[in-house]
Amino acid sequence: MTQQDSHAGTALVVVAHHRTDSLTAHTARRAAARLEAAGYRVALLDLHAEGFDPRMNVADQPDWGNREKRYSEETHAHMRRILDADAIVAVFPVYWQSVPALLKGWIDRVWNYGFAYGRSRPRLAGKRILWLGLAGAPSDDPVVEGMQRVLETGLSEGIAFYCGFSHSTVGLLTDAEERPQRVDPEGNLLIGEAVAGAERAAQYAEFDRRAEEFVEKFLAEEPAAL
Ligand SMILES: Cc1cc2nc3c(=O)[nH]c(=O)nc-3n(C[C@H](O)[C@H](O)[C@H](O)COP(=O)(O)O)c2cc1C
Repeated sequence: MTQQDSHAGTALVVVAHHRTDSLTAHTARRAAARLEAAGYRVALLDLHAEGFDPRMNVADQPDWGNREKRYSEETHAHMRRILDADAIVAVFPVYWQSVPALLKGWIDRVWNYGFAYGRSRPRLAGKRILWLGLAGAPSDDPVVEGMQRVLETGLSEGIAFYCGFSHSTVGLLTDAEERPQRVDPEGNLLIGEAVAGAERAAQYAEFDRRAEEFVEKFLAEEPAAL
């Protein structure tokens, strides 16, 4: 897709982090810029900045006898933002091998019965999603393989494909911590040395490169222009 191509559609970039100076927010900004350069109209959803409340509530609780249930106005507004998007890129820190509560709550409340699932053709059918998860674990930590698997099962199988998405990829970005950390067999948290200067710049450049690679791949796998 070229910069001049204005038919790439709309991408909703969802950021789930409480700090705007986080590596997560930085990664989301870079992903948004790349999507824009590829011709997408980018809509940003910063869940924390918008004060999204991830707690399930009575208004948004599914009513299994009524798939036309009118949920809260806030939830319907979020549903419209999803409907307006052809692609979603969710950027988040991996917490306990999963998405943070902020992002999970958005899915719980907004990807609701009668909208995201529970119809022969869910309203999200055909959409595409890239999950960009930043993990503190170093790439050579044996925990990473299982983390990738559990994220793919939960996010792609359990959520996106269940809701009819045509494409879902988990881009796991390891080494998101400045200082490498791992837990040894005795349960001690081992925190490595922080790198500095040129080495540190190279570490972040490599991180950005890997993130960009996931976005590029996601773009390359897109269906023919709309
Ligand atoms: C509550 C919590 C749970 C975490 N769980 C994991 C985990 O399961 N695996 C992992 O590799 N890193 C885990 N981390 C580390 C974060 O993924 C890491 O700090 C984050 O991606 C760094 O990005 P940020 O600077 O944008 O927050 C966890 C951090 C917190 C605070």
